[in-house]
Amino acid sequence: MCLAAYAGAASAAPAARPAGDPWWQHAVIYEIYLRSFQDSNADGVGDLNGITQRLDYLASLGVDAIWITPFFPSPQIDFGYDVADYEGVDPRFGTLADFDRLVAEARKRQIRVLVDLELNHTSDQHQWFQDAARSRRSLTHDLYVWSSGKPDAAGKRRPPNNWVSVFGGSAWEYVPAVEQFYYHRYFRQEPDLNWRNPKVERSMADVMRFWLDRGVAGFRLGAVTALVEDARLRDAAPLGGRNAQGDPNLSDTYTNNLPETHAVLRRLRKMLDHYPGEPVLIGETYVKSAAQLSAWYGGARHDELQLPMDTAFGFATRLDAREFRRRLTEASAELRGSQPLLLLDNHDHPRSWDRFGDGTHNTEIAKVLATLLCTSRAALLLYQGEEIGQSTSTPARVEDVRDPIGITGWPAEKGRDGERTPMQWDASAQAGFTASARPWLPVSPGYATTNVQAQRSESESLLNWYRQLIALRRGDEALRSGRLVMLDPANLRVLSYARVTPDGSGIIVSLNMSAQAQTVTLSTLAAGLAGTRFRTLLSSPGEFSVVAPGTRLTLPPYGAWVAAVE
Ligand code: NOJ
Repeated sequence: MCLAAYAGAASAAPAARPAGDPWWQHAVIYEIYLRSFQDSNADGVGDLNGITQRLDYLASLGVDAIWITPFFPSPQIDFGYDVADYEGVDPRFGTLADFDRLVAEARKRQIRVLVDLELNHTSDQHQWFQDAARSRRSLTHDLYVWSSGKPDAAGKRRPPNNWVSVFGGSAWEYVPAVEQFYYHRYFRQEPDLNWRNPKVERSMADVMRFWLDRGVAGFRLGAVTALVEDARLRDAAPLGGRNAQGDPNLSDTYTNNLPETHAVLRRLRKMLDHYPGEPVLIGETYVKSAAQLSAWYGGARHDELQLPMDTAFGFATRLDAREFRRRLTEASAELRGSQPLLLLDNHDHPRSWDRFGDGTHNTEIAKVLATLLCTSRAALLLYQGEEIGQSTSTPARVEDVRDPIGITGWPAEKGRDGERTPMQWDASAQAGFTASARPWLPVSPGYATTNVQAQRSESESLLNWYRQLIALRRGDEALRSGRLVMLDPANLRVLSYARVTPDGSGIIVSLNMSAQAQTVTLSTLAAGLAGTRFRTLLSSPGEFSVVAPGTRLTLPPYGAWVAAVE
């Protein structure tokens, strides 16, 4: 339920930014999985012009920026993350002119465009690798990580160590022409770049400049913690057991989070900082704790990524008030003043709708989580379809799987197709995603009821909840920059906190993460809030009876409540 004062605020008002804060500090960034967002030419695959057609929708949602998954020329083994040319557009997605038009049209709507750059590896079809694999004397040979390997007992040449690919099997592939193995952290068709070679860094800095000069506002850097590997290529320590691909679990000490990677990021950041428009570096950073995450910001120096993703926060599987409280508290204590980047979903994980949903209260649960995201002190990432509660639609038969890791890992690993199904725009054939009868992935069966068009006109829909929250956070200083103060911190089922401005005004949030009604008493005094009454701004499900601070408030099962303290 939304109170009238905020009902009109959901339209696209330009972001009011406090002076001094860079644009990304409070941004809502929307991830577009290009292949599945909107197809404009009826080939069953999403494209750049499709995004341009949908910009008004994104503006009405209130997003500040879009991150578009890779559109570069690519054999599409890894659906674009295998890049064959970093300075072009794959014809299936459009042309450079289409890209420029998209950036220009987005700008008219105050939406910035972020490019997804996979710096860790190229496609094996990239000209650099094609030349590198032809001869050791090639000028590009040392752009990749090569090793002659070592002979086994029978004298047969073997990879230099026991490293396995994240996507299954040995991480080394032999190339007879050069009598060497190359390292690939991911697919065999994705050779790792050798970031110990300064030429790699120079070339990638050029690529960044190419896109910055075309008006992009920054980059999402995939696999960014893994740019550099151990120089001695030492064996990884076994951790016991096997992963979903059947490979032994290994320590990643020699393949991930190496200090040299931080040095690379510091230099790239320096280059970016000379560009106008405050370009941002977002990182795909799978680390276990806020303290480890802090390192990817550059710690107290704040000179690496501005927004490494807090993946541990959102890729949890249990709706647990204690756990979310702990993570938010840690983020505010350990990031040394850096801004968290929170997310629940992306194209690599089963959707939050299914991970947290209980099958009965999914919409209420999704609203609780949306409230948590939008009222935390953070920048945030939304993944297409999250705002309407799209579900994960994993293929039932291996014959239908498109993601190679689902083909090799079936049935333990079914791949990522389930979270990549087409965006559900309306109830027409193929959910309005494509005019083709054969979308590259089938539309999820739930689309007839779960779609943008249906939720637009339904006042209590998840989509409208998101729009209201985003509008609220835009217009409210406490929600943007207020201090976070946990309330009722021992409560096991209800997560409550205040966001407090220096002058003592603020917002209270209370989220019931259980299937039972819960009664809480929220003292605003502890938070340093001066007000004496609550004014409900948003409540779900339905309307709550408003109480005074210090008196008991009953939240329905999976209830979410946001109030101003006045
Ligand atoms: C990160 C991307 O998010 C993922 O989809 C891809 O498979 C890996 N990088 C490897 O390229």
